[in-house]
Amino acid sequence: MSKDVLWWQSGVIYQVYPRSFQDSNGDGVGDLKGITSRLDYLQWLGIKAVWVSPIYPSPMADFGYDISDYGDIHPLFGTMQDFEELLEGIHRRNMKLILDLVPNHTSDKHPWFLESRSSRDNPKRDWYIWKDRKPDGSLPNNWLAAFGGSAWEWDEATQQYYYHAFLKEQPDLNWRNKDVQTAMFAMMRFWLDKGVDGFRIDVMWHMIKDALFRDNPVNPEYQPHMATYDQLLPIYSSDQPEVHTIVREMRELLDEYPERMMIGEIYLPIHKLVVYYGTDNKGAHLPFNFMLLTLAWDPKRIAAAINEYEASLPRGGWPNWVLGNHDQPRVVSRIGASQARVAAMLLLTLRGTPTIYYGDELGMRDVAIPPDKMMDPQGLNMPDKNLSRDPARTPMQWDNSEYSGFSLVSPWLPVDRTADRVNVRVQHSDPSSMLILYRRLIHFREQNPVFITGSYIPVFADHQVIAYLRREEGHPEFLVVLNLSHRPCYFRMAGRSLYGTIVLSTTPALEQTTIRDTLTLSGDEGVIITLQS
Ligand code: NOJ
Repeated sequence: MSKDVLWWQSGVIYQVYPRSFQDSNGDGVGDLKGITSRLDYLQWLGIKAVWVSPIYPSPMADFGYDISDYGDIHPLFGTMQDFEELLEGIHRRNMKLILDLVPNHTSDKHPWFLESRSSRDNPKRDWYIWKDRKPDGSLPNNWLAAFGGSAWEWDEATQQYYYHAFLKEQPDLNWRNKDVQTAMFAMMRFWLDKGVDGFRIDVMWHMIKDALFRDNPVNPEYQPHMATYDQLLPIYSSDQPEVHTIVREMRELLDEYPERMMIGEIYLPIHKLVVYYGTDNKGAHLPFNFMLLTLAWDPKRIAAAINEYEASLPRGGWPNWVLGNHDQPRVVSRIGASQARVAAMLLLTLRGTPTIYYGDELGMRDVAIPPDKMMDPQGLNMPDKNLSRDPARTPMQWDNSEYSGFSLVSPWLPVDRTADRVNVRVQHSDPSSMLILYRRLIHFREQNPVFITGSYIPVFADHQVIAYLRREEGHPEFLVVLNLSHRPCYFRMAGRSLYGTIVLSTTPALEQTTIRDTLTLSGDEGVIITLQS
């Protein structure tokens, strides 16, 4: 592989939700020592980089995305020494660690906010976004919080509102204030100096708001089943042009260190998303591409979106793909267990860095959580309880013991009852399992650099199939054919004869089959074919 390809381009990223990966101290919540104890598994799977959701001190109003100290470890997760051991264990295995950084907002218990709210003339007052009520007594503007209700919270003591894009316990920082920038950049340096390899930047597109705080317009496409936040189009509260200056400054800081990287969490349409690569690619290395998470599982639409994405990427901008994360329903629950195998093949054969959400490599599904056990503020605060993200955050399924090898005690969220079948131990020795499919795809990708550096050439898409080539001068050419439907189908190459051998399939029995002209696929089947010219 070309020496110019860096680890975050060639490798696979794996997201660990630390509360749910491995409990080492018997409190029912995952921790750092737990993650360290499972690094051999991640290495066996073929993972290059581990992204760990927030592990900092936090009142846990939003499970760590409400940080009260950017420079320490929450005791629930362990100590700074545990962190250093995790980092050392990751680096010893030639892997990388990506931390989750939440610069848009802090916890309302963060000392910065406690100072800011203590009086109107406190030096940190301007670190957050404070506004008077309007002369008629109404809210400063109509902006809504993503977790329900108004984004403005009244502070009785100082008689002003503060702005929070998420929970009222998560006040937004004022990124137009230079001291805020300096303080957060210092925290980034703190972790980079310790040796972390990159950051996933939470809600990157939210960091700067309209200077005039204009009202957001009404969303004409709002439907009653949508979250209340979607009633308005957030054109003034997010994705402001000035955010790119901040992103570029973060990038400049990272570039002072060798081979560090930055992912931006950004939910925007493609043409707006790609702007986050920055002028001359000096913005985010990987603005997260959530298309496979947000689009309907429709081959024509997905193929069109891949083409649009490929065409929109700036020159030198590196693509990436995400199939699951801690905010979205799991892929198995969206498209079914059989189709999730096809999705794995798609994720790992497209051009760009793949991100895997923990447990998706086993086919873990969304778990039904009894209402009285609901934890997620997005469920608890919202009229529609089905918006809760708990179902996709349940304990990792390691084996078929009482709490699936995650913990010796009852965990913070229940273990899925299918864990006796869907677990690492069982799947490890089953050649037809999801886990083995993932591992084989990851290793195949690594061994065939055309999947990393080769071009993506669309071949065909209809209501059942997506087919594409991966091609690079001097390498064998591969054809990927994925049946995104449950029905069988035939596939022929238009204008070219099809002659090749299946080298990897979601159905291992198909491997080594020679294909001449017509490929026959069962429903929910995908193949990688090496073409003979
Ligand atoms: C995005 C995170 O992924 C999500 O879990 C969190 O609730 C919000 N940002 C607020 O920090």
